[in-house]
Amino acid sequence: MEKIDKILINAKDIRNRVAQMGALIQTDYAEKSPVVICVLKGAMVFYSDLVRQIDLPLIFDTISVSSYGAGTSSSGKINIIKDLDCDISGKDVIVVEDIIDSGLTMKTLTLTLKNRGAKSVKVCAFLDKPSGRRVDFKADYVGYQIGDEFVVGYGLDFDGKYRNLPYIGAISLDEGERE
Ligand code: IMP
Ligand code: MG
Repeated sequence: MEKIDKILINAKDIRNRVAQMGALIQTDYAEKSPVVICVLKGAMVFYSDLVRQIDLPLIFDTISVSSYGAGTSSSGKINIIKDLDCDISGKDVIVVEDIIDSGLTMKTLTLTLKNRGAKSVKVCAFLDKPSGRRVDFKADYVGYQIGDEFVVGYGLDFDGKYRNLPYIGAISLDEGERE
């Protein structure tokens, strides 16, 4: 059974960082009305905090993609489980993601969105785990870079659990639980 080892980022630090990220996006997209895509379910909590820090006429949409099973390592496949509702051709798009690990999900998804004719596609990720990269990918906005550890909370899960924690915690797994 896994357990929360330590709190990596507390709720107050999260609030301050998300406010900074929102302010940056508000400046970069001044006079624009970007489509802001929440990557379900991991980005839900970050997304709902972030959008309320951006005073622009945002258009909301959601997408659900899968690349992970119950374990903690990337399977390398991406399937769109629930697609966008809106047509993004000619639109400025911001993809909001919980964490970039191997980079496979965001690399594939951003390519797909560009191929649909989006005017611009940028990625805003709350966390970035550069040590996990298997493909070259860089997000445009990143909250925090973290090391090679598995984290939960603030939307991120382990086996479907811990998404509702108000902080980012690191979990330790028993031997044999890592895929
Ligand atoms: P990747 O960049 O394609 O490997 O996939 C990133 C996705 O893997 C994220 O959207 C998360 O759902 C999941 N993920 C990667 N690392 C973690 C972690 O430390 N905790 C929880 N989910 C993670
Ligand atoms: Mg995810």
